Amino acid sequence: MRGKRILLIVGGGIAAYKSCELVRLIRKAGMSVTSVLTDGGAHFVTPMTLAALSENRVFTSLWDLKDEVEMGHIQLSRQADLIVVCPATANLMAKMAQGIADDLATTLLLATDKPVLAAPAMNVRMWQHCATQRNVAQLRQDGVIVIEPDEGEMACGEFGPGRLPEPEAIVDAILEQFRAVPLTARDALAGQEKRPSTSSAQSDAALAGKHIIVTAGPTHEPIDPVRVIANRSSGKQGFAIAAALAGLGARVTLIAGPVSLASPPAVDRIDVETAREMDEAVQRALPADAAVLVAAVADWRVDPSPRKFKKTEGPPPLAWSENPDVLLGLAGSADRPKLLVGFAAETHAVIQLAKAKREKKNCDWIVANDVSGDVMGGDQNSIHLITADGVESWERLPKEEVASRLAARIARYLSQKQDK
Ligand SMILES: Cc1cc2nc3c(=O)[nH]c(=O)nc-3n(C[C@H](O)[C@H](O)[C@H](O)COP(=O)(O)O)c2cc1C
Repeated sequence: MRGKRILLIVGGGIAAYKSCELVRLIRKAGMSVTSVLTDGGAHFVTPMTLAALSENRVFTSLWDLKDEVEMGHIQLSRQADLIVVCPATANLMAKMAQGIADDLATTLLLATDKPVLAAPAMNVRMWQHCATQRNVAQLRQDGVIVIEPDEGEMACGEFGPGRLPEPEAIVDAILEQFRAVPLTARDALAGQEKRPSTSSAQSDAALAGKHIIVTAGPTHEPIDPVRVIANRSSGKQGFAIAAALAGLGARVTLIAGPVSLASPPAVDRIDVETAREMDEAVQRALPADAAVLVAAVADWRVDPSPRKFKKTEGPPPLAWSENPDVLLGLAGSADRPKLLVGFAAETHAVIQLAKAKREKKNCDWIVANDVSGDVMGGDQNSIHLITADGVESWERLPKEEVASRLAARIARYLSQKQDK
């Protein structure tokens, strides 16, 4: 971690005073800090305090002509290894989520090609407001690491989630970024479309050289030219897993059912509609080191009618047939990936049914989730990881966090397999 450069953006929240301690701790961990203070932030801490603690210049204005001769804001946004927004106010996160660039901090955040970590802090009602939650979900989807605020008594006297985590915990989160994901891989996550395959730094990434297939989203089985059999899968969990694996340096083939999600950076995406198309795309994508089958594939299809069924004709006569089982097909393939991960969405007896599925489908892990609540389409997931060693139940987490934990587990598993 020594020598890493942090660009710290201090927003206009009461917790801004903690950013001073954060500067001290980041430097103690051997990293350097350059600070940017928003207009709001400057109401809470002074540039002088941050300059003295960081022993570095503090930037406050986009309109500093001397710096802008050399496009200073672009340089500033690229020189760091990691951008940390602390405190990330509701206003700052709203602007980030919308791509607004109306001051130095937000312009840097839009211009950067580096990973961004945001530490939100605000009143509990502001944090729980649907607009803030929407913005946080958007930022996470865009690849920003948004750490969860602490819960407790606030400066305003109210109680609940929204407190800035202690500076020590934020430094841990910063170090975690450098440990868990090599920066070059994060760079890919942060927006480059394709990674240079020859980069030596990239070859150090945990999943460098590995090919991983991920399926995501629902399938649509046509009934007639206008109607389909669908399900509620949004694709968010699968897309987050694809992004996290690419972030660890894997070559990811993402086979997506009909979803309205942007492709994660540095991922090869193949769009399909039906279960049979998904099955064929998976088989064509082989060989792979691992496959993570997150998609909710329809078990059944009907023979679609070439003409629209008319209401006046009564309920359509549908002839059902079974769809191919993508997971079972992969498990039985001559090219079976070393690690096969299936997902099991259940509404009851979740663990019991998932354990049975692991045996029946001959796969290595099953990620089981209880979809009786708002998991499908929601931003959080609570999962049980079922392996040959037993069952691990994870707390309810944002889907991005589930994805990065799972990606780290996959990296560890494949490296252990390689060592054997
Ligand atoms: C005393 C005071 C404390 C504030 N604390 C917070 C806070 O903790 N979090 C937050 O999101 N906004 C807080 N605000 C509101 C922000 O200052 C305001 O939204 C501002 O526009 C944010 O500026 P920024 O975009 O530079 O961060 C506070 C305002 C005042 C006057």
